[in-house]
Amino acid sequence: MRKIIIALIYLSPFLLSCNAQKNSSVVAEINPFKYTSSKKVIAENGAVVSAHPLASKVGVVILKMGGNAVDAAIATQLALAVVYPAAGNIGGGGFLVGRLSNGELISIDYREKAPGAATRDMYIDETGKARTDLSQNGHLAGGVPGTVSGLFTSHQYAKLPFSKLIQPAIDLAEKGFAITSGEARAFNSIQESLKKYNSVMPAFVKQTPWKEGDTLIQTDLANTLKRIQKNGAAGFYEGETANLIVAEMKRGNGIISLGDLKNYKAKPRTPQTFNYKGYKIVGMGMPSSGGLLMAQMMKMIEGRGIDKMGFHSVQAVQLMTEVQRRAYADRAEYMGDADHYNVPVEMLASDKYLKERMKSYKNDKATPSTEIKPRIDIDSESEETTHLSVIDKEGNAISVTTTLNGGYGSKTVIGGAGFFLNNEMDDFSIKPGVPNMFGAVGGDANAIKPGKRMLSSMTPTLVLKDDKPFIVVGTPGGTTIPTQVFETLVNILDFNMSTEDAVYKPKFHHQWLPDRLDVERGFPQAVKEALQKMGYTIYERGSIGRTEIIKVLPNGKFEAVADNRGEDAAEGY
Ligand code: DON
Repeated sequence: MRKIIIALIYLSPFLLSCNAQKNSSVVAEINPFKYTSSKKVIAENGAVVSAHPLASKVGVVILKMGGNAVDAAIATQLALAVVYPAAGNIGGGGFLVGRLSNGELISIDYREKAPGAATRDMYIDETGKARTDLSQNGHLAGGVPGTVSGLFTSHQYAKLPFSKLIQPAIDLAEKGFAITSGEARAFNSIQESLKKYNSVMPAFVKQTPWKEGDTLIQTDLANTLKRIQKNGAAGFYEGETANLIVAEMKRGNGIISLGDLKNYKAKPRTPQTFNYKGYKIVGMGMPSSGGLLMAQMMKMIEGRGIDKMGFHSVQAVQLMTEVQRRAYADRAEYMGDADHYNVPVEMLASDKYLKERMKSYKNDKATPSTEIKPRIDIDSESEETTHLSVIDKEGNAISVTTTLNGGYGSKTVIGGAGFFLNNEMDDFSIKPGVPNMFGAVGGDANAIKPGKRMLSSMTPTLVLKDDKPFIVVGTPGGTTIPTQVFETLVNILDFNMSTEDAVYKPKFHHQWLPDRLDVERGFPQAVKEALQKMGYTIYERGSIGRTEIIKVLPNGKFEAVADNRGEDAAEGY
């Protein structure tokens, strides 16, 4: 026995380097400087859909190496933190909803928390003005990051060692990769903000404009990832990385402390489930409003014969708009972190309550939001979050939505650690009635409190048929997230649309306040006009969401479809 131990100690550097070599081959197999991208795949063994081709490819290589969907979801998220820094992250938070091969349903909450020194009115100045500039940009906008704890909490369901799952991300950060045209455009658009909100210039700042194909090397981020590889979650929440975060806070009046970091723990939660037309829908509960909003909206349309009304018919769009309006009014009033506020989840999802909610519904006329709650106007801002859907042949289905909140979060990169800090504090109701960057309003339920999680709209969702995975779906898009997942599912479950059509066709969104119906460019003119006549204010806007979906076909194969609104990519084998 002693001999074996001595031999192992002697051989361990060699074994580790073999491991590293094998891991490096994940990235070598992909070629991060020249890669393809597909919007749709049909796969037999497993599939990954995410916002970036390299991240989807990393996930599939992990599946091929013997990992399951959880392994692939972890590796894909870590890769996204490198190749898609606008939203992929280790400085933000997210939610995972999963169905495991043994039939167990899980959800993991790794939403950011308000720092211990946060106060309810921290963004209200002496004149009473709500300082959304501070809740949305720079050091004070950041909540205590949850992603790394979430990944380690997820790892109990994985098969491969964490050190293997993080290696592709390390390689991509250390050796670099060719950026996409979208990333080049996005980097160019934030150069001024980066200079404004950083004292240590990050790798994303460049003297000449970024262009497609440029190599991005992130040495500081690679070193942070290596500390996580070596020390586990403590490699982020303690030691050098934690010290770098706190030093960054000091340079910019941020308040995240060593204690906040050390105490952060992701939480396993009971998923929000409900039945719809014989399917079981599994979503995220508080502190995300996503699962409950889905339950409310789907139950409010159920039994009204929407399948016969037809896709983009005036009647169907009108009904769906009215249920969206009603659910979002509840979001503003009742929803928040249930660890800190008594959210009446059961009541809000109950048939009795929803029937009552729909009493004011008329099928030929808009119900003004003022008849439900007072009106407040909003400005909208740029947005970014990211979703990934993963499935394997063992019966594991994983749906993850993760975010920094706005694109590149607070725009502050932790000096020496190389990752963006989120601006998730803006998802709290920073002052009753003052809209956040997505126009969402709130009050007590979502007021700031130390250690509390801000209310989210993220809606990672699974649909089960006979308790087996049928659909894995989700999207970014701030408050539009639940309505996009809702519409995608109605498109498939009620209108029998193809998966591509269900995702790609123009979407719409109503969130109670402001009282207007947002429609995507390309939405049918005749439907807009008919709705205007019924009293709807129509607001045409650019693309809504980036939905990533996997559907299990009748022959058991996986149909993975990436949204065509971005550079999203589907991979499988
Ligand atoms: O948690 C939320 O609801 C928001 N922070 C999500 C932000 C988002 O989706 C931005 N993306 N497009």
